[in-house]
Parts: sequence; C-alpha cells; structure tokens
Amino acid sequence: MISVVAGLRVAHTVVAIRQQIAAWRAEGLTIALVPTMGALHEGHLGLLDLAAQHADRVVVSIFVNPTQFAPGEDLERYPRTLERDCELSAERGAHLAFAPAAAEMYAAEDQTRVSVARLGSGLCAMSRPHFFGGVATVVCKLLNIVGADVAIFGEKDYQQLQVIRRMVIDLHHPTRIVGAPIAREADGLAMSSRNAYLSADERQRAAAIHRGLLAARAAVTTGVCAREAIVTIVAAEIKAAGGRLDYVELVDPHTLTSLDTVESVGRLAVAVFFGATRLIDNMVVGA
Ligand code: PAJ
Repeated sequence: MISVVAGLRVAHTVVAIRQQIAAWRAEGLTIALVPTMGALHEGHLGLLDLAAQHADRVVVSIFVNPTQFAPGEDLERYPRTLERDCELSAERGAHLAFAPAAAEMYAAEDQTRVSVARLGSGLCAMSRPHFFGGVATVVCKLLNIVGADVAIFGEKDYQQLQVIRRMVIDLHHPTRIVGAPIAREADGLAMSSRNAYLSADERQRAAAIHRGLLAARAAVTTGVCAREAIVTIVAAEIKAAGGRLDYVELVDPHTLTSLDTVESVGRLAVAVFFGATRLIDNMVVGA
C-alpha cells in the first residue's frame, strides 16, 4: 500500500516498498536508504542531502522501533510527526518514505534478534543493555527489505554506527554504510529529537557538553594525552552546568575499547542527563 502524505509517497508495507524498489531497479537506478525514527530535524535532513549525492533515489524510513526501547523508556511519548516528516523529506529531495506499522516489522510470531557482541556492549549498552540488539535487528530488517546500494547513518550515534558497520560485514549485507558528521545547534548542542524534552533552562545548560568536548580536544592538541586528564576536562564542564554524567569515555575509534592515552587518535564519547533527559555526543581527538 502506497499513500501520499504532504506530497511524499509513503509505502506502509514490505510488499509495496519492494515493488517500488524493483521498478527503480528495472530502470537501472541506484538507491540510498536513510533509516530514522522520525521527528526529523536538520541532523536527519543533512543525511538526506548526503544520500542524494550517493544514489539516484532516496528512501527515508520512519519507524519508532519498539525493540530498542526498554520498559519504562520513552517509546510511548517518543514524538510521532509523520505529516511534518514527509513534508520536510519531500523538500529535501526524498523520493519515498517507508513508514510501516510495528506489526509489519515484527510479526506476532517473531523470534529472531541480531546481536553484535563486543561493539554492542560497553558505553551506551551499560545503561541501555537492550538497545543495540534492537537497533541491529531493525536495521538488518530494513537493509533486507530495501536492498539499498548505500545507507546513511550519523556519527552523532557513534557506537550505533560502529555496530552497524560490523553487522553489515558479518552478515554479508551488500549495502555500503556511509557515516555523516554531527549537525549541531548554534551553541554546539548536537541536534536530537530528544532535545525537545529539555526545559528552556536545561536546554541552555546542555551546551556544556559540546564546550567540554571542545576543551578536551584543545587540551589534546597542546600535548595532554592521558585518559584521566582528558575525561576530567569534559566531566568538569558538564558538572559545572548541572549535568549528571552517565559516562565519559576515551575510546579507540574502531574497536570502542578504552584508551589510556591518545597515541594518535581517539574518540571521546559522552552520555549525560539534564533533568530526566539523556543526551549523547562524541568528538574525535588527536590527529
Ligand atoms: P534517529 O535517532 O531518528 O536517527 C536517525 C539517524 O539520524 C541516525 O543515523 C542518527 O545518527 C542520525 N542523526 C540524529 N541526529 C543527528 C545529528 N545531530 N547529526 C547527524 N546525524 C544525526 O538512530 C536512530 O534513529 C535509530 O536507532 C535507527 C538507526 C533508525 C534504528 O531504529
């Protein structure tokens, strides 16, 4: 079934999207997929721009994936704004949205999960152990359904990007994974659908996350290379703004294992609560 929402064609079923993809393939067209959970902002829309540079047709999937939310998380109140998402996606050149119902993605008898063992543990998995299994499972399904040539993911969710890169290699998906830089607000806060949960005061204070990361990166350029010193710089900035740290970690950019020192390059990854809202961010440090 394909409907038109705010000027964009929307496939709601696996059969419908596969028909459209087959028609494009018959014309010799290439396809890019941008997986999202909707509530689109400039961070997502930049991925659509990048997708258009990589393929003839751009598909955006809009699906709030229940298996990546634990009981008590924000599945029910996660913003659902399909009409607006379609309008924005059409403006940014998307050719089709895929917006399935949960039952279309997960049959009642569904039993299969994908897990990426090491990359999917540590960092965000410490406080959200269910998360990367849900992400890997739904992205695996989306890649199988769409069969895109390329799929675009943001570096904002850096661990997620590494998990997906690993899964695609391990499960022999033919889709090429492309990472996109983090889109930020004017004060540096990484754009996120969850920023909408912040009060005006929390929103203002949350800019400390980016300030902390920048300060740490600057320290590394002046020769500070010990994990403890680098992490302390980030933590101090965030704590001064009243943020509650979930974690600050200095990790190897590929394996995501902890680094004691920055030899050449590292990735600083942060998860912080401002009020009840958990925000994540990261930045490359070193070379
Ligand atoms: P969602 O949070 O909607 O994000 C969709 C994509 O947009 C992800 O690849 C994410 O990294 C990217 N993104 C979000 N904010 C960004 C920003 N400020 N800059 C650059 N990219 C940004 O991530 C998910 O959905 C889900 O886990 C999903 C992969 C769709 C699986 O359900």
